Amino acid sequence: MSETVGVSLLGAGNIGAGVIAALSAGASRYAARVGRPIEVRRVLVRDTARVRAGLAPHQIVGRLEDVLGDPGTQIVIEIMGGEHPAREAIEAALRSGRHVVTANKEVMAKAGGELLQIAADHGVRLLYEASVGGGIPVIGPLSRDLLANEVSAITAIINGTTNYMLTAMTQQGADYADVLAEAQRLGYAEPDPTADVEGIDAAYKIAVLCGLAFNVEIRPDEVARQGITSITARDIAYAERLGYVIKLLASARLISGAVAATVQPTLVGANEPLAKVDGVLNAVQFEGDLVGRVLFEGPGAGPGPTSSSILADVLDVAQDVVTGRRPLAFVPRRRLRVALPAEHEARYYLRIAVQDQPGVLARIAAVLGEQQISIASVIQFDRATADGTAELVFTTHQASGGALQTAVAAIRAMDVVREVGNVLPMAG
Ligand code: NAP
Ligand code: HSE
Repeated sequence: MSETVGVSLLGAGNIGAGVIAALSAGASRYAARVGRPIEVRRVLVRDTARVRAGLAPHQIVGRLEDVLGDPGTQIVIEIMGGEHPAREAIEAALRSGRHVVTANKEVMAKAGGELLQIAADHGVRLLYEASVGGGIPVIGPLSRDLLANEVSAITAIINGTTNYMLTAMTQQGADYADVLAEAQRLGYAEPDPTADVEGIDAAYKIAVLCGLAFNVEIRPDEVARQGITSITARDIAYAERLGYVIKLLASARLISGAVAATVQPTLVGANEPLAKVDGVLNAVQFEGDLVGRVLFEGPGAGPGPTSSSILADVLDVAQDVVTGRRPLAFVPRRRLRVALPAEHEARYYLRIAVQDQPGVLARIAAVLGEQQISIASVIQFDRATADGTAELVFTTHQASGGALQTAVAAIRAMDVVREVGNVLPMAG
């Protein structure tokens, strides 16, 4: 019997360096908890010549075979990121009988069901706590603590970059472009921020959560997605005057046999707990039939928080290695119909620039009325501009997405309408 539990890493970048440092700092505690020391065996990187803190040259390798050919490796931690070759590496590790811990939301969103089935077929575990919400426990609670519940809804802020940017726009009254430049300067936003600001990262994460919460397979490209690039300082200011803040919410719920999943900038009531989740923090709220509403909040990224989740999975599976415990059988996921945005229902905020002349408001109200959309409020916050443009802000009662799409198309075509600005859902 081996004297240690052997762990190898695929990747030693931002997160990998944090994992290596934490494994070293917590070595005696982890050994006591698992019953054997955790030993770092091999670390796969692209640049094998670079000196890496906490690693000896013989531990650094450049080929996956050097990891999988090591008989002392029982657990593989995948933290290289991206879809390929991470997906193939995870699959090869599982097929070779290794347990795998991953932080990779893209792979878990696109191929999670398939990989979990491969893990079950090979009697090993695939754990992915760090793939959603960084250091916040969400996968663990969904897999265990909330298991007795019928989860009906997930509402989450699961992208720290966009939450930082929207918070800065709210607190400083700054415009999108200025805030993005500042976020890039501080290292919160990537040089290419597309995955974050277009909601792609959040779509991966909500797809992963749907798999666990509803046992439903949903592809990330089936998530109705709108990023934050069109949000202006004016939208933020109008929301504030209405008693709301704008957050990029990732949401999912089951509606009459279909799953509706969205990533959208949303007006959240200023007194709602999610409205107070600011900066780079993340939060995930579940609604269950037994527990009611529970909210998990904390740091959604960074080496410390992400290592916390990765190492929790490593310690959990290391205990299996020591005790010989077998993993539970994986229950294959259902394929449910994905609800179209037209089937979603919400209250809505509409910002519309019009010619400042009598009768315009009545004509827009009539279009909304024809679609059975009930207006909750209409406000012209500021005076018309010198060129005679007035900006109207409508809020509606609960309305169908399809009716709203039809009404917005008709409003956009009106001769007195200069621009239909943002149309955003409202929550709380
Ligand atoms: P990173 O800094 O870019 O590090 C990637 C590491 O993987 C590097 O060590 C790189 O090697 C290695 N690598 C990449 N492609 C490789 C290949 N084809 N062959 C061999 N090695 C390869 O990424 P990160 O920020 O640590 O993120 C890692 C994972 O954690 C991603 O899935 C990410 O989504 C997830 N995650 C990150 C955060 C966060 O806060 N950053 C939070 C939660 C989850 P070199 O060092 O030689 O370039
Ligand atoms: N780019 C992500 C975010 C962190 O901004 O939340 C990694 O999941």
